[in-house]
Amino acid sequence: MTFQTIDGKKISAELRAAIKKQTDGRISRGLSKPGLAVILVGENPASEVYVRNKCNACEEVGFYSLSKTFPYGVTEEELLNLIDDLNNNSAINGILVQLPLPEHINEERIIEAIDPLKDVDGFHPYNIGRLALRMPVLRSCTPKGIMTLLKSTGLALEGKEAVVIGASNIVGRPVSLELLMARCTVTTCHSRTVDLEAHVKRADIIIAAVGIPSFVKGDWVKPGAVVIDVGINRLESGKLVGDVDYETASKKASWITPVPGGVGPMTIASLLENTLQAAELQSS
Ligand code: GUN
Repeated sequence: MTFQTIDGKKISAELRAAIKKQTDGRISRGLSKPGLAVILVGENPASEVYVRNKCNACEEVGFYSLSKTFPYGVTEEELLNLIDDLNNNSAINGILVQLPLPEHINEERIIEAIDPLKDVDGFHPYNIGRLALRMPVLRSCTPKGIMTLLKSTGLALEGKEAVVIGASNIVGRPVSLELLMARCTVTTCHSRTVDLEAHVKRADIIIAAVGIPSFVKGDWVKPGAVVIDVGINRLESGKLVGDVDYETASKKASWITPVPGGVGPMTIASLLENTLQAAELQSS
């Protein structure tokens, strides 16, 4: 079977160009630059790279951004105080707390402290609840990016069997809600799923978000399935690989995302979309 690559790098570049244009339009109408605040705790090298990339992307599209880094030992109170200040700062339209947070910090308490209309990660129970009720406001970034990639294929999603592997709050659960909203028949698999392979084998759409290199094998992929690989795993050799065995899966799939250059760039593009949307919501 010949497969087509879903080029996240290209699609995200087009999105960023469109966002820049809309931002220029906002500024020429006398409105403020969309503003994003990014909060980072501790010294996680991967998180530091993500935060730097997010701030650079803001600059590229003409947003205002600020990043605030706390040492690992920061207290919940200190974080809550900063979030309270940012909730009341009109130059800031979006607030993002980079996850994971240290063990001594209650992640839910931090996320719930963010004004839901500034929750550009779409993690607040208000935004997840709105999505569950098919009335999304700010949608979680990676799931939103995945839906943009699926849309780019031009395939009709309605009635398709979608199997999501992974049930995290960041990807698995919200992407399952997104697919349900798109009227797929959705199965969410997780670490306790019995016979995962059997579920994957009937999928028209596979979303792999497990964080295990090459976990999904080519012979689990139904001929013609669409494969979306959310994983970014670095091997000891330094090579980046996804959660799907690309070599074998691409022989079965109709469409497949590469790693890198698939889902990864879409997360930041969706964050920019959300920050612009938040700015529009707050100035209307
Ligand atoms: N950690 C891993 N992915 C994400 C994300 O999308 N947003 C935040 N805030 N933290 C993350």
